[in-house]
Amino acid sequence: MRISVIGLGKLGICTAASFAAKGFEVTGVDINRDVVNAVNRGVAPVVEPGLQEMISQAAKRLRATDSYAEAVLNTDITFLIVPTPSKEDGSFSDAYLSDVLRELSMGFANKDEYHIFVITSTVSPGTTESRLIPLIENISGKKLNRDFGVAYNPEFIALGDVIRGFLNPDMVLIGESDRYVGERLEEIYRKVCENKPYIARMSIISAEITKIGINSFVTMKISFANTLANICENIPGASIDDITRAMGADRRISPYYLKGGLSYGGPCFPRDNRAFMAFAREYGIDTPLAEATDRVNLKRIDSLIDLVLRHMAEGSKAVSVLGLAYKPNTPVIDESPAIKLIEGLLKRGIDVMVYDPLAMDNARSCLGDAVHYASSVRECMANSPTCVITTQDDEFRRINSSYIVHNPAVVIDCWRIIRWKDLGEQVKYIALGSSYQEEVISSIP
Ligand SMILES: NC(=O)c1ccc[n+]([C@@H]2O[C@H](COP(=O)([O-])OP(=O)(O)OC[C@H]3O[C@@H](n4cnc5c(N)ncnc54)[C@H](O)[C@@H]3O)[C@@H](O)[C@H]2O)c1
Repeated sequence: MRISVIGLGKLGICTAASFAAKGFEVTGVDINRDVVNAVNRGVAPVVEPGLQEMISQAAKRLRATDSYAEAVLNTDITFLIVPTPSKEDGSFSDAYLSDVLRELSMGFANKDEYHIFVITSTVSPGTTESRLIPLIENISGKKLNRDFGVAYNPEFIALGDVIRGFLNPDMVLIGESDRYVGERLEEIYRKVCENKPYIARMSIISAEITKIGINSFVTMKISFANTLANICENIPGASIDDITRAMGADRRISPYYLKGGLSYGGPCFPRDNRAFMAFAREYGIDTPLAEATDRVNLKRIDSLIDLVLRHMAEGSKAVSVLGLAYKPNTPVIDESPAIKLIEGLLKRGIDVMVYDPLAMDNARSCLGDAVHYASSVRECMANSPTCVITTQDDEFRRINSSYIVHNPAVVIDCWRIIRWKDLGEQVKYIALGSSYQEEVISSIP
């Protein structure tokens, strides 16, 4: 089966390269010429661990173009992985998907063979059947489940882990317009996946609800862990990691995404949870759990800003922030808690220096001249006696007393990745998820 992938961004290029590396002939389409040229030169257009290797492995099986007609005429199945930005009310815009489908359908009108369209972009439930399928039928003049099939097949990958996650998913979600479409997609995933995932096949609307239902549930778990962390921060002797480790050992709960720390961010979690609320609202259904999840998440940032201001080294108006991306191993700063922290500090007149191993360019385009940019962890920490570590980057785990140049110094460790004893006597070490009282802090093992 020949595959085309429309949209070679953070998710699309990883999908296209993985299909090609596993033996499929893949045509990628993107409106960005630089992306098309990079792919055709065999160069990864985005930063993602393992992507360059996948593109090299794919060799001549992966090529890119800006022609939609070529994609639909020369392949059997097309995956659409273009942006679906959030609208004011929290639902997803299908404007990019509609533009692409319009173009594809014009090409498809001239094709005699059957074709499958797969929506991989995250959509608000109901979008595929109420808007996208009618659009294909109207423009191409062809009929669903006779001339073409449609599937909703979102991915559950995490940035920084896209390739591994794509090849080893817990579950592959397929919403199918009929059995034939589901079988073809299942065949592809059986060939591509390196594990034997559960393949969940269902109606398109069920799959659309499942996708945002999963992310809304996961964010609820994170906000629950952060509520526990908040409790621990106020009760001497309580330690978040001991509590979540024990809770996570219970199979009804599981340890994943149950770690107290910073609020969740990134291009998916916050907006998927809000889209879940918006979708339910459309049907007059209340979503108090999702609403509380969002509230807890926003409040967590405000608490961090207060905490930093409260514990800043005396006499100093400067803070160093290590970590800018919304999590380690990615340059992505969408809804990053670190960026929100920095904006909050700047508003209060604090001088901020920042460092991140991957996200400096993205941070520059968002923060401009408002902050100072360090070229290393050491330079960043030397800037001010107060340092906040916001991500679990390996580079930050190595921080020890040799990095400390101020006396006294304050280190606020949002994920408890440093052993406070390694920092030296002059450091006031504050771990989120533990009481901040120094006598308790100094009893952390
Ligand atoms: N990134 C993630 O972690 C992730 C995870 C799950 C789901 N998703 C969903 O996948 C979709 C894509 O997300 P992303 O992060 O890859 O986005 P992205 O912004 O990184 O990439 C989108 C790509 O689509 C291209 N594009 C835009 N309009 C186009 C058009 N008309 N024709 C061809 N190409 C076009 C852009 O040039 C870009 O390369 C979104 O719906 C997102 O919600 C993303």
